[in-house]
Amino acid sequence: MHALVVTAHPDAASFTHAVARQVIAGIEAHPGHTSELADLAAEGFDPRFTAADIGLFQRRGPADASVLAEQRRIDRADLLVLVYPVYWWSLPGLLKGWIDRVFTQGWAYDDVPEGSTVKMLGRLAVQLVGIGGADEGTYARRGYADAMRTQIDHGIFGYCGAPVVGSDFLLHSDPPSRERALRRAFEIGSGLAAAAPHRRTARP
Ligand SMILES: Cc1cc2nc3c(=O)[nH]c(=O)nc-3n(C[C@H](O)[C@H](O)[C@H](O)COP(=O)(O)O)c2cc1C
Repeated sequence: MHALVVTAHPDAASFTHAVARQVIAGIEAHPGHTSELADLAAEGFDPRFTAADIGLFQRRGPADASVLAEQRRIDRADLLVLVYPVYWWSLPGLLKGWIDRVFTQGWAYDDVPEGSTVKMLGRLAVQLVGIGGADEGTYARRGYADAMRTQIDHGIFGYCGAPVVGSDFLLHSDPPSRERALRRAFEIGSGLAAAAPHRRTARP
Protein backbone atom coordinates (compact mmCIF):
# COMPACT_ATOMS: atom_id res chain seq x y z
CA MET A 1 0.00 0.00 0.00
CA HIS A 2 1.16 3.51 -0.71
CA ALA A 3 -0.36 6.30 1.39
CA LEU A 4 -0.46 10.01 0.71
CA VAL A 5 -0.61 11.79 4.07
CA VAL A 6 -1.77 15.38 3.66
CA THR A 7 -1.34 18.03 6.35
CA ALA A 8 -2.30 21.67 6.38
CA HIS A 9 -0.62 23.44 9.28
CA PRO A 10 1.93 26.26 8.97
CA ASP A 11 4.15 25.12 11.88
CA ALA A 12 6.27 21.99 11.45
CA ALA A 13 6.65 21.88 15.27
CA SER A 14 2.86 21.73 15.78
CA PHE A 15 0.92 18.91 17.34
CA THR A 16 -0.72 18.35 13.93
CA HIS A 17 2.67 17.56 12.37
CA ALA A 18 3.58 15.32 15.31
CA VAL A 19 0.37 13.35 14.71
CA ALA A 20 1.12 13.09 10.96
CA ARG A 21 4.61 11.73 11.76
CA GLN A 22 3.08 9.09 14.05
CA VAL A 23 0.58 8.00 11.39
CA ILE A 24 3.47 7.63 8.93
CA ALA A 25 5.57 5.74 11.50
CA GLY A 26 2.64 3.36 12.05
CA ILE A 27 2.29 2.71 8.32
CA GLU A 28 6.00 2.23 7.76
CA ALA A 29 6.30 -0.14 10.73
CA HIS A 30 4.89 -2.67 8.27
CA PRO A 31 7.58 -3.60 5.73
CA GLY A 32 6.59 -3.01 2.14
CA HIS A 33 4.09 -0.25 2.91
CA THR A 34 5.14 3.24 1.94
CA SER A 35 3.94 6.78 2.50
CA GLU A 36 4.54 10.28 1.28
CA LEU A 37 3.86 13.49 3.20
CA ALA A 38 2.12 16.34 1.39
CA ASP A 39 2.76 19.39 3.58
CA LEU A 40 0.49 21.89 1.85
CA ALA A 41 1.69 24.85 3.92
CA ALA A 42 5.41 24.22 3.34
CA GLU A 43 4.79 23.53 -0.34
CA GLY A 44 2.91 26.81 -0.70
CA PHE A 45 -0.23 25.32 -2.23
CA ASP A 46 -2.57 28.16 -3.22
CA PRO A 47 -6.09 27.33 -1.96
CA ARG A 48 -7.81 30.18 -3.81
CA PHE A 49 -10.36 28.94 -6.34
CA THR A 50 -9.45 30.56 -9.67
CA ALA A 51 -11.14 31.52 -12.93
CA ALA A 52 -9.52 28.45 -14.50
CA ASP A 53 -10.99 26.29 -11.71
CA ILE A 54 -14.54 27.52 -12.32
CA GLY A 55 -13.95 27.16 -16.07
CA LEU A 56 -13.09 23.50 -15.55
CA PHE A 57 -16.16 23.00 -13.34
CA GLN A 58 -18.32 24.50 -16.11
CA ARG A 59 -16.55 22.37 -18.73
CA ARG A 60 -15.21 25.44 -20.52
CA GLY A 61 -11.46 24.87 -20.07
CA PRO A 62 -8.63 22.61 -18.93
CA ALA A 63 -7.38 22.01 -15.41
CA ASP A 64 -4.62 24.20 -14.01
CA ALA A 65 -1.16 22.55 -13.93
CA SER A 66 -0.96 22.76 -10.12
CA VAL A 67 -4.32 20.98 -9.81
CA LEU A 68 -3.21 18.25 -12.23
CA ALA A 69 -0.01 17.75 -10.23
CA GLU A 70 -2.04 17.19 -7.04
CA GLN A 71 -4.34 14.74 -8.82
CA ARG A 72 -1.32 12.78 -10.12
CA ARG A 73 0.04 12.60 -6.57
CA ILE A 74 -3.28 11.19 -5.33
CA ASP A 75 -3.46 8.81 -8.31
CA ARG A 76 -0.16 7.24 -7.19
CA ALA A 77 -1.66 6.37 -3.79
CA ASP A 78 -4.02 3.64 -2.60
CA LEU A 79 -4.85 5.53 0.55
CA LEU A 80 -5.34 9.22 1.33
CA VAL A 81 -4.90 10.31 4.95
CA LEU A 82 -5.91 13.84 5.90
CA VAL A 83 -4.32 15.03 9.16
CA TYR A 84 -5.68 18.48 9.94
CA PRO A 85 -6.37 20.85 12.82
CA VAL A 86 -10.07 21.48 13.42
CA TYR A 87 -10.68 25.18 12.79
CA TRP A 88 -14.16 26.45 13.61
CA TRP A 89 -15.54 22.91 13.56
CA SER A 90 -14.38 22.32 10.03
CA LEU A 91 -11.33 21.85 7.83
CA PRO A 92 -8.76 24.66 7.85
CA GLY A 93 -9.10 26.95 4.82
CA LEU A 94 -5.88 25.65 3.22
CA LEU A 95 -7.17 22.07 3.17
CA LYS A 96 -10.70 23.06 2.17
CA GLY A 97 -9.25 25.02 -0.76
CA TRP A 98 -7.11 22.01 -1.74
CA ILE A 99 -10.27 19.88 -1.87
CA ASP A 100 -12.27 22.56 -3.70
CA ARG A 101 -9.58 22.86 -6.37
CA VAL A 102 -8.29 19.29 -6.68
CA PHE A 103 -11.45 17.15 -6.36
CA THR A 104 -12.73 18.29 -9.72
CA GLN A 105 -15.56 17.48 -12.03
CA GLY A 106 -14.25 14.89 -14.48
CA TRP A 107 -11.60 13.49 -12.11
CA ALA A 108 -13.35 13.00 -8.74
CA TYR A 109 -16.96 12.86 -9.97
CA ASP A 110 -19.00 13.60 -13.04
CA ASP A 111 -22.38 15.29 -12.79
CA VAL A 112 -23.99 13.92 -15.93
CA PRO A 113 -26.72 15.99 -17.62
CA GLU A 114 -29.52 13.52 -16.78
CA GLY A 115 -29.06 14.49 -13.13
CA SER A 116 -27.12 11.56 -11.69
CA THR A 117 -23.52 11.66 -10.50
CA VAL A 118 -20.77 9.27 -11.56
CA LYS A 119 -18.55 8.62 -8.53
CA MET A 120 -14.98 8.31 -9.82
CA LEU A 121 -12.80 7.68 -6.74
CA GLY A 122 -13.87 4.20 -5.69
CA ARG A 123 -10.23 3.06 -5.85
CA LEU A 124 -9.09 5.54 -3.17
CA ALA A 125 -9.48 4.65 0.51
CA VAL A 126 -9.63 7.64 2.84
CA GLN A 127 -8.72 8.05 6.51
CA LEU A 128 -9.60 11.29 8.29
CA VAL A 129 -7.74 12.50 11.37
CA GLY A 130 -9.12 15.74 12.79
CA ILE A 131 -7.14 17.27 15.66
CA GLY A 132 -9.04 19.42 18.10
CA GLY A 133 -8.18 21.57 21.09
CA ALA A 134 -11.62 21.21 22.72
CA ASP A 135 -12.52 18.28 25.00
CA GLU A 136 -14.69 15.25 24.27
CA GLY A 137 -17.61 16.64 26.28
CA THR A 138 -17.79 19.69 24.05
CA TYR A 139 -17.70 17.56 20.89
CA ALA A 140 -20.43 15.24 22.24
CA ARG A 141 -22.69 17.94 23.71
CA ARG A 142 -22.92 19.89 20.48
CA GLY A 143 -22.71 17.03 18.00
CA TYR A 144 -19.67 18.58 16.31
CA ALA A 145 -18.07 15.23 15.38
CA ASP A 146 -21.28 14.00 13.74
CA ALA A 147 -21.73 17.31 11.93
CA MET A 148 -18.20 17.19 10.55
CA ARG A 149 -18.53 13.55 9.50
CA THR A 150 -21.73 14.42 7.65
CA GLN A 151 -20.06 17.25 5.77
CA ILE A 152 -16.64 15.75 5.13
CA ASP A 153 -16.97 11.95 5.11
CA HIS A 154 -20.34 11.80 3.36
CA GLY A 155 -20.57 15.21 1.73
CA ILE A 156 -17.14 15.19 0.10
CA PHE A 157 -15.72 11.66 -0.07
CA GLY A 158 -19.08 9.87 -0.28
CA TYR A 159 -20.01 12.13 -3.19
CA CYS A 160 -16.85 11.01 -5.03
CA GLY A 161 -17.30 7.33 -4.09
CA ALA A 162 -14.04 7.18 -2.08
CA PRO A 163 -14.57 4.73 0.81
CA VAL A 164 -13.86 6.30 4.19
CA VAL A 165 -12.08 3.50 6.07
CA GLY A 166 -11.62 5.51 9.26
CA SER A 167 -12.62 8.83 10.73
CA ASP A 168 -11.03 9.87 14.01
CA PHE A 169 -10.91 12.97 16.15
CA LEU A 170 -7.80 13.23 18.31
CA LEU A 171 -8.36 15.74 21.08
CA HIS A 172 -5.57 17.20 23.14
CA SER A 173 -7.02 19.47 25.75
CA ASP A 174 -4.47 18.34 28.40
CA PRO A 175 -1.05 16.55 28.47
CA PRO A 176 -2.44 13.01 29.08
CA SER A 177 -4.81 13.36 26.13
CA ARG A 178 -1.85 14.47 23.99
CA GLU A 179 0.01 11.28 24.83
CA ARG A 180 -3.09 9.20 24.08
CA ALA A 181 -3.60 11.01 20.80
CA LEU A 182 -0.03 10.33 19.64
CA ARG A 183 -0.36 6.64 20.52
CA ARG A 184 -3.69 6.47 18.71
CA ALA A 185 -2.11 8.14 15.64
CA PHE A 186 0.51 5.38 15.46
CA GLU A 187 -2.23 2.74 15.84
CA ILE A 188 -4.25 4.33 13.04
CA GLY A 189 -1.28 4.13 10.66
CA SER A 190 -0.37 0.64 11.72
CA GLY A 191 -3.97 -0.58 11.42
CA LEU A 192 -4.30 0.88 7.92
CA ALA A 193 -1.16 -0.90 6.73
CA ALA A 194 -2.14 -4.17 8.41
CA ALA A 195 -5.55 -4.12 6.72
CA ALA A 196 -4.28 -3.16 3.27
CA PRO A 197 -3.15 -5.42 0.46
CA HIS A 198 0.63 -5.62 0.21
CA ARG A 199 2.12 -3.21 -2.30
CA ARG A 200 5.78 -2.16 -2.50
CA THR A 201 5.73 0.94 -4.61
CA ALA A 202 3.60 3.89 -5.54
CA ARG A 203 1.68 3.60 -8.80
CA PRO A 204 3.67 4.95 -11.76
C1 LIG B 1 -8.52 29.49 13.89
C2 LIG B 1 -8.63 28.37 14.87
C3 LIG B 1 -9.85 27.77 15.08
C4 LIG B 1 -9.97 26.69 15.93
N1 LIG B 1 -11.19 26.09 16.08
C5 LIG B 1 -11.29 24.97 16.83
C6 LIG B 1 -12.53 24.28 16.90
O1 LIG B 1 -13.52 24.66 16.30
N2 LIG B 1 -12.57 23.14 17.63
C7 LIG B 1 -11.48 22.64 18.29
O2 LIG B 1 -11.58 21.58 18.92
N3 LIG B 1 -10.29 23.28 18.25
C8 LIG B 1 -10.18 24.43 17.53
N4 LIG B 1 -8.97 25.09 17.45
C9 LIG B 1 -7.79 24.49 18.12
C10 LIG B 1 -7.03 23.67 17.06
O3 LIG B 1 -7.79 22.57 16.67
C11 LIG B 1 -5.69 23.27 17.59
O4 LIG B 1 -4.86 24.35 17.34
C12 LIG B 1 -5.34 22.00 16.86
O5 LIG B 1 -5.81 20.94 17.63
C13 LIG B 1 -4.00 21.83 16.41
O6 LIG B 1 -3.02 22.01 17.42
P1 LIG B 1 -1.63 22.47 16.87
O7 LIG B 1 -1.86 23.87 16.37
O8 LIG B 1 -0.67 22.43 18.04
O9 LIG B 1 -1.27 21.50 15.82
C14 LIG B 1 -8.84 26.20 16.64
C15 LIG B 1 -7.60 26.83 16.44
C16 LIG B 1 -7.49 27.88 15.58
C17 LIG B 1 -6.14 28.53 15.36
